[in-house]
Amino acid sequence: MLNSSNNPANDNHCLSYALPIGYCFNEFEIEKVIGKGGFGIVYRAWDHRLKRTIAIKEYMPSSLVTRSQNLELKLHRGNLQKRFQTGLTSFMREAHFMSCFNHPCLPLFLRFWQKNHTAYIATPFYNGITLKTLQATQPEIINQCWISKILYPLLDAINTLHKTGYLHCDICLDNILIQEDGAPVLLDLGSTRKITEQLSDEFEITIRPGFTPVEQYTANEERQQGPWTDIYAIGATLHTLIIGTPPPVSIVRNIEDNYQPLVKRSPAGYAFPFLHAIDRTLSIRPSERPMTTSELVTSIELSVITKDKSYVY
Ligand SMILES: Nc1ncnc2c1ncn2[C@@H]1O[C@H](COP(=O)(O)OP(=O)(O)OP(=O)(O)O)[C@@H](O)[C@H]1O
Ligand SMILES: [Mg+2]
Repeated sequence: MLNSSNNPANDNHCLSYALPIGYCFNEFEIEKVIGKGGFGIVYRAWDHRLKRTIAIKEYMPSSLVTRSQNLELKLHRGNLQKRFQTGLTSFMREAHFMSCFNHPCLPLFLRFWQKNHTAYIATPFYNGITLKTLQATQPEIINQCWISKILYPLLDAINTLHKTGYLHCDICLDNILIQEDGAPVLLDLGSTRKITEQLSDEFEITIRPGFTPVEQYTANEERQQGPWTDIYAIGATLHTLIIGTPPPVSIVRNIEDNYQPLVKRSPAGYAFPFLHAIDRTLSIRPSERPMTTSELVTSIELSVITKDKSYVY
């Protein structure tokens, strides 16, 4: 099943079916809606016991369910039960995956619980803005030096997932939050899966046009997924930061590749080897991309060294 992911976080429409402000789960009190995707709502909440702000993600696929007066979720139609249950199982997996990792750039799992005929995940609240908002509101701070500073910790977080056999599968500007001190957090493990996992028909595949590499659209033997799959998405994220738009949609590129390499576009302020390293991540063929995050780090570091040695590009 394909899920075209979109995250209009400021869409007020979601408020009509969000939990009301002041609603409490024991010591957690809902303060505000801070995000909304096809599958859920993210709230900021106050933890009265520990006196701190947290984030609570609620599984709430608005295409399948609505909220009844008693605040429990209710299916639009009875025959949607199976799809709701499949999504709920994925949501539980998200909670499980989060509980497996402890990295400063991955959301820290605090708690999981079920209520209102759905489920909830609590994490710390990270004060900051997504890369998408940052690019829209403060484009002037984005340059090679700034990108490099957020890139290394992010690649380290992605490497933590890969080392334990997981792929994030939804790296994009919406899912990277830049905290007030500049440190990035890679959010949303909702599409994360095990590299070795067989995809059944019921498995939701996240498709984010421009960011999803061609092998992620299907899962047959020729199109094996691996760390290089997330590497394409991180490349697309960097491309968007540098140029303002993601690369063309990969399945279209696969038919006729109209990708314009960054080295040819040569945006001002970016070193040729740095751009070349990003172009490689965006190769349509997985075998032409860096295979691992360490390989990507090496190719970017080489570009920095080359720059420091003052080569002329
Ligand atoms: N822990 C957090 N602290 C601060 N803001 C958060 C946190 N978690 C999520 N957000 C905000 O909520 C938005 C949506 O969160 P997230 O990406 O986890 O869910 P989603 O996109 O709705 O999930 P899905 O793609 O599974 O439907 C983020 O882009 C971010 O703005
Ligand atoms: Mg998201």
